[in-house]
Amino acid sequence: MTHAPQPTTRPALILPPFLWGSATAAAQVEGAAHEDGKEDSIWDAFARVPGAIANGDDLEVAVDHYHRTAGDVAIMSELGLDAYRFSTSWARIKPGDRDVNPAGLDFYSRLVDQLLDAGILPWLTLYHWDLPQALEEQGGWTNRDTALRFVDYAEATYEALGDRVQHWTTFNEPFCSSLLGYAVGVHAPGRRDEAAALAAIHHQHLAHGLATTRLRELGAEQIGITLNLTNAIPADPTDPADVDAARRVDGIMNRIFLEPIVLGAYPADVAHDLEGLGLDTLVHDGDLETISAPIDFLGVNHYHDDLVSGHPDDSGADGGHSGATEREAGSPWLASPDISFPSRGLPRTAMDWEVHPAGLRTLLVRLGREYPTLPPLYVTENGAAYDDVVAEDGRIHDVDRDAFIQDHIDQVELAVADGADVRGYFVWSLLDNFEWAYGYDKRFGIVRVDYDTQERTIKDSGLAYARRIAASRVVPAVAELP
Ligand code: FCB
Repeated sequence: MTHAPQPTTRPALILPPFLWGSATAAAQVEGAAHEDGKEDSIWDAFARVPGAIANGDDLEVAVDHYHRTAGDVAIMSELGLDAYRFSTSWARIKPGDRDVNPAGLDFYSRLVDQLLDAGILPWLTLYHWDLPQALEEQGGWTNRDTALRFVDYAEATYEALGDRVQHWTTFNEPFCSSLLGYAVGVHAPGRRDEAAALAAIHHQHLAHGLATTRLRELGAEQIGITLNLTNAIPADPTDPADVDAARRVDGIMNRIFLEPIVLGAYPADVAHDLEGLGLDTLVHDGDLETISAPIDFLGVNHYHDDLVSGHPDDSGADGGHSGATEREAGSPWLASPDISFPSRGLPRTAMDWEVHPAGLRTLLVRLGREYPTLPPLYVTENGAAYDDVVAEDGRIHDVDRDAFIQDHIDQVELAVADGADVRGYFVWSLLDNFEWAYGYDKRFGIVRVDYDTQERTIKDSGLAYARRIAASRVVPAVAELP
């Protein structure tokens, strides 16, 4: 075991009452995919598979964040952000999962310094889906050993940055990196095997638990995980098939991820549904104690609810769950045929995701009520893709995205008023970027990126977000108080 860092220069942990931030992820923004020692992640390799990514897009340049952090941090300052949620790339820090790459760590070290100099809190995620390809070639997340490799990577990253970074997120949305990657096959590594996906779920849980314990030993103060959670609503609450389908979606999207971590057990009904996929052999003695190591915060990503039916739907509507390309896709709903997502007629974003801001309030309030032992919540992603138009004045009047963000923040405030312990909100995304299998087709940024010139322009939604942040800091004059 290498030495623990000496956190002599650690700044005191002072958080504003409510943290306003924005998020990105390494693979989606950095580019420099093979620079300064970085080697392939599974996404670099997946992008070379014909038909895997819309328009054959790749991650080589992305939005060149790797070379532009100074300017991007200046934009964050202009917006008035308290925090920047970013992820580190395992394949940059430990290319091929071999030795630590000092140049890779230096990049993140510079970024962290730039953020701290600007008074912006670095909010670091260790795994936002970009496993070193060399590990995938040894089975990836179906291989239990990958969890141990993750702990070594977490430790190397902590040793370099732990003196300055206080917030450590182990995983982002393990639902996607297990089920979309190993069962649906529309995300890297592109496999379609239900048993492999279940193994990936368990091994990512294990990696989370082991790393949480190790980071805690090393001195990390704030450790958490980010899950993408939904409200699964039966299309017809009087129809047993719809009720059971909603239970299954709730089980596979929410509870199979939350409950091992929060309660130290897989949900019994889900385990029963998945009999035959090998959960018993995956779970070794002591795993659930490891996985349920205490955490300090839960990141909640939420974009849309799911209206669920247990009947096949021939209309083609799938609630935005299908792929971005013609590539054949499996289903994430393990051992559950006939799950479908009828429309309830709400407006939709460019991802075909319904717009229903009140769902975020419902979700945040439910979480606190259903899991009273949960730590504080942070909305670590929320936002929307729309087809932006650059106006003649060069501005981006993205009224739909602006309304989406403002309406969701309203709902977060209502959730807090209802008693939900929500401490912050991060917009997805700071910048337009590589939207996984959709390539550069879908723009989520509050800052536009011109992909030819890499020029950044704050969209109207970004300007409005900045005004909202500024307004939240104004202490009302005594005369204005009720
Ligand atoms: C989430 C991902 C993020 C981004 C948004 C739109 O599932 O965490 O990287 O792609 O969706």
